[in-house]
Amino acid sequence: MCGIFGFVGFRKNATETVLNGLKKLEYRGYDSFGIGIQKNNQFEVFKQTGEIEHADNPFPTEVNFAIGHTRWATHGGVTKNNAHPHLSNNKKTILVHNGIFENYTEVKKQLIAKGYKFDSETDSEVASVLLEELLKTNDELHAIQKLNQTLHGRYSLVIKFLDSNKLYAVRNGSPIIIGVTDNNHYFIASDIPAFLEHTNTVNYLDDNQIAVFEIKNDQTSKKFYDINSLQEVEKRDIQVDLNPEDSELGDFEHYMIKEIMEQKESLLRSCNQDPELIDRVAQMINNAQDVYFVGCGTTGVVSMCARYLFAKIAKKKVNFEYGSEFSHLECVLEPNSLVIGISQSGETIDTLEAIEMAKAKNCKTACITNVKNSTISRAADETILINAGIEKAVASTKATTSQIGILILLAYACMNKTMEAKQILHDASGKINDMLNPRYENILLKLAAKIKDSQDMYIIGKGINFPVAKESAIKIQEITYIHAEAFAGGELKHGPLALIQKATPVLVIASKDENYLDIISNAIEIKSRGGLIIGISPENNEAFDIWLKVPEHNIDAAIINLIPIQLLSYFIGILKNNNPDKPRNLAKSVTVK
Ligand code: F6R
Repeated sequence: MCGIFGFVGFRKNATETVLNGLKKLEYRGYDSFGIGIQKNNQFEVFKQTGEIEHADNPFPTEVNFAIGHTRWATHGGVTKNNAHPHLSNNKKTILVHNGIFENYTEVKKQLIAKGYKFDSETDSEVASVLLEELLKTNDELHAIQKLNQTLHGRYSLVIKFLDSNKLYAVRNGSPIIIGVTDNNHYFIASDIPAFLEHTNTVNYLDDNQIAVFEIKNDQTSKKFYDINSLQEVEKRDIQVDLNPEDSELGDFEHYMIKEIMEQKESLLRSCNQDPELIDRVAQMINNAQDVYFVGCGTTGVVSMCARYLFAKIAKKKVNFEYGSEFSHLECVLEPNSLVIGISQSGETIDTLEAIEMAKAKNCKTACITNVKNSTISRAADETILINAGIEKAVASTKATTSQIGILILLAYACMNKTMEAKQILHDASGKINDMLNPRYENILLKLAAKIKDSQDMYIIGKGINFPVAKESAIKIQEITYIHAEAFAGGELKHGPLALIQKATPVLVIASKDENYLDIISNAIEIKSRGGLIIGISPENNEAFDIWLKVPEHNIDAAIINLIPIQLLSYFIGILKNNNPDKPRNLAKSVTVK
């Protein structure tokens, strides 16, 4: 949530560099953006609501420091005043902020009592004004330390003071990474892909650390400090093996369709794992008293898949919980419980807090993530990387199928049958390839045209297809804005059947498994109430008004059945002129509660 980008160095096009970096961070929020620079001994700020592609400000370019921000509104509406950067009253402190200061109203009241004024409704502006006050009695580093003691919450900040040649970055719970070039240019960003075109050498700022960048006599330098002791800390330059091209659109119109199309390869990469790591995590699962899979949104639903996959494959009961609901389990966690967080970004606060709670209770922890060195990965005892490649569209597609692939791998590894899982995933990748062709896309485009104006849509499944139905509902909601809900097929007659009207589209996910006859009879119950039955199945059935054929499948059902639904959501979104990469009100990487 919210993207930060800062630049320190000697580039003629510094502001352009920051704007380009911000564009790559827009997945974290696209309500407004802003950029701040220092020129002629004053700060200049340009802010605008909406997306960066509509930027209408002419930006001065030759500056040594520039900071920028792309916002997902939390405190205060989507207005120019609420956009970052924020200045102090005396205009001598400027900052951009990601995260939330929980006690900002209290601190704001104290500052107002001292005579300070506020232009915005944000918690972020409180930080810039507070720094002005703290600088009266402290040097810059101590002022930042005191800010950290005064304002509570998880956050990251990039700060510049007018009368100094230093730029500061602070991390306390929200990500911030520093890109370093050979000629000592520094890029400070919420995520690595934002500066990957410039460098793949990074410094990871840890929680409670401050990075200080200085320009002196045409030389740049960096230092790192612990925010509590203000002792200097050493950092290693780390090379990351990400490919900048992965974050480019190429010939595709949207990242969502690009990422859907990449699933053949991404699924194969997910099963290419260090066998010792997979065995270690499988042993953790086998040895644990209780296992909890935790995630949010789509990854919450993937966590729910674990319950079905481990029961079926490994005859093992595992639990799942949404990250935002995990806290109620604190009282049942024991030191021999295992908590496995699933998170594409590795930054989702609710999943991170579940891992932190588990650690506090001395439980074992692991995570399944797409981002190496992400916060969740650094917190967990073991990390399995899904290797899906950068996922930029807000709606998760390729990361989802790769996460399910890892669950299948782990469940088989619990039975010492990892090779069997690899074969299954290899075959599933081939089936995805068979589906992702223009003819199949055309079938889904036609169906999208037929149902795009529906008010409501329901999706039913049984067994592993129940979480698949839930994930389908999320995709339809966020991409098409149609009201979509998922139910376990058998639950309909206990209430939701009352929602079915003439021609209400109902997607029925009907794998040819032990649940087939049950789900078909649920479909018939809906059909006899007038619902339009769209069957997703390897085999046609007279209960279906429309049949979406999928390849034969078994334990890979969740992966295979998701593909047509991802495409259907995408095409409905396109036909409705929605931007599938940036659904309204949403952002990727949800680092606030
Ligand atoms: C929906 C979607 C979200 C994420 C959720 C968790 O398509 O992508 O529901 O799954 O915000 O994000 P991660 O996996 O990064 O923890």
